Amino acid sequence: MFLKTIIRKWRGQIGWVLGRRLVAQRQITGFRASFSSDVDAASTFEDHVTLTKNTFVRTSQFGRGSYLGQGSRVKDTSIGRFCSIGPDVILGGLGRHPTNYVSTSPAFYSKKGQTGLVYTKVSADFHESMGTTIGNDVWIGARVLVLDGVTVHDGAVVAAGAVVVKDVAPYTVVGGVPAKLIKKRFSEATIEALKSLKWWDRDDSQLARMGAQFGYRPLDEADLPELFETLSRKTKFKRQ
Ligand SMILES: CC(C)(COP(=O)(O)OP(=O)(O)OC[C@H]1O[C@@H](n2cnc3c(N)ncnc32)[C@H](O)[C@@H]1OP(=O)(O)O)[C@@H](O)C(=O)NCCC(=O)NCCS
Repeated sequence: MFLKTIIRKWRGQIGWVLGRRLVAQRQITGFRASFSSDVDAASTFEDHVTLTKNTFVRTSQFGRGSYLGQGSRVKDTSIGRFCSIGPDVILGGLGRHPTNYVSTSPAFYSKKGQTGLVYTKVSADFHESMGTTIGNDVWIGARVLVLDGVTVHDGAVVAAGAVVVKDVAPYTVVGGVPAKLIKKRFSEATIEALKSLKWWDRDDSQLARMGAQFGYRPLDEADLPELFETLSRKTKFKRQ
């Protein structure tokens, strides 16, 4: 049993390193994955995703332009576009145990037999895992933990070292243990405008113009009409 598990894991890792990783790099434009990344077959990637050293990904989805910092683990998580995820981050897949049952040990509420001990005839109506969602343009600092079932909405920033136990509102900065609101990134009007703009769904020519005009300086409410106008036009885009 133990040997079988080791062989299955080893085959999965070798399969990724020598097979699926290379296929993904060839088939998905701009996809880059370190030799030491470890990804299962159930995970999916849009273009220009980067997985750095010692990253671990299971049953998760990554949107275009997102990257995963060194040593980070992602499980049962959907990640939007243009997300920056720092090193040693854990997103989802931690699992849950009931806190209001006679015991928190699965031996008493689950028939799975994680330890070989099963003291129940019925499996409790309790979800041990729940999906986690990270929106678009989210920045997650180093050593952050985002618990199962949480949604971090578009444009949010999670400060280094935070433990996120509740949903994070769009375009807010949260931090601490448990993570609490530090500040809003912009005025309410600007946040509403950015939420409706959804710039991450635009094409490369529009994004290049947004970068050229607004990428290098703080965004002001007075910029909004020009930003909307910029993203309404399309031109030819040449990748550098
Ligand atoms: C949150 C962060 C982005 C700072 O954002 P900022 O807009 O420059 O905010 P400030 O530095 O002005 O800090 C605002 C407040 O948040 C607090 N704060 C900053 N970082 C914090 C953290 N990690 N945890 C808790 N509170 C934090 C500050 O003390 C300050 O509190 P105050 O208003 O009571 O003085 C930054 O501190 C951070 O955590 N960056 C992550 C870096 C990282 O991990 N990079 C990995 C590479 S992707």
